[in-house]
Amino acid sequence: MIKPPENIRSIKPYIPGKPVEELERELGIKEAIKLASNENPLGPSPLAVEEIQKHLIKINRYPDGSGYYLKKALSSHLGVSEESLILGNGSNELIDIAVKTYMTADDEAVMAWPSFVVYPLAVQMIGAKSIKVPLTEDLRHNLKEMAKAITDRTKIVFVANPNNPTGTINYADEFDAFMKDVPEDVLVVVDEAYYEYVTDNRYPDTLEYLKAGRNLLILRTFSKAYGLAGLRIGYGISREDIIIEMNKIREPFNTNSLAQVAALKALEDKEHLKRSIEINEKGKHYLYKAFDELGLEYVPTETNFIFVKLKGITSQELYGRLLKKGVIIRPIGEDSVRITIGLEEENRVLVQQLKAVLS
Ligand SMILES: Cc1ncc(COP(=O)(O)O)c(C=O)c1O
Repeated sequence: MIKPPENIRSIKPYIPGKPVEELERELGIKEAIKLASNENPLGPSPLAVEEIQKHLIKINRYPDGSGYYLKKALSSHLGVSEESLILGNGSNELIDIAVKTYMTADDEAVMAWPSFVVYPLAVQMIGAKSIKVPLTEDLRHNLKEMAKAITDRTKIVFVANPNNPTGTINYADEFDAFMKDVPEDVLVVVDEAYYEYVTDNRYPDTLEYLKAGRNLLILRTFSKAYGLAGLRIGYGISREDIIIEMNKIREPFNTNSLAQVAALKALEDKEHLKRSIEINEKGKHYLYKAFDELGLEYVPTETNFIFVKLKGITSQELYGRLLKKGVIIRPIGEDSVRITIGLEEENRVLVQQLKAVLS
């Protein structure tokens, strides 16, 4: 029998949820409401869909491995050079690429906890060690403690800003103090998957640190506000020398042709982005009010999901009860849940069912 090494054997497999259609069949319900994966409930940009249709006929060809047109558009959108950009099969892939590029099994990565579950997985896959620093009491990254956790073995520090699953951000002054503490031989990976949703003006402008030449990799995605989660496309912004190294690890055709053309159109479709953000803002305030009325404790969010702390019911119980009513949310640990903000009607049904299952 062949066995993988211990670092692989000890990974707890990710158990994907059943397809919504299958759940609907099993539960005998129609039109389940999926508020579990922080997707854009509005759908993709119609311009992106139209563009995909135009390009379907060409899928016998390999994609453009350099992502030429998308990188060109992103370069002018962001005001950075094309050489400082890398495309990924979701920003998720860029997390893996960063780890493989800069870490060996003897190294450590520092991260907040709880945070995005993919960071420790990527680190474990190469047999390296994750140092998890607990969030502050108000569920934000404890950047001071994270800086203190850096040792000679640390190669990467992950900062999810905003954080998943709490929806919280770290402020510009905190980030600035943190960057002063980070040694020159450590790469800071700032994951800004929810960047477009942030409204708090204390949010740091991380591009400034790149312009100042710091070791920084900024990750953003088309999966959230741009509504293209199913196509898998995200991007990294970094110093040109860092991008050169990361490109050595990247598969030559890592992002598919339909994702590239759709992302280009989604970037141009300012109206769709604006509507997506507006719907999220409205839904956010509707849910805050409803949660207040239900006596549910929640954390104000800078994203398209809300972290809710439970009392008198476990996360699995609430998840199970809502599931039977056709509403899918994400349990987090024993006593919290993460709920994606949906369309107006979806939020209304969620609140109605929450009232029913909590009473
Ligand atoms: C913090 C964070 N980073 C990265 C991702 C990955 O996004 P994608 O791979 O779809 O770009 C997610 C998705 O949920 C996320 O929450």
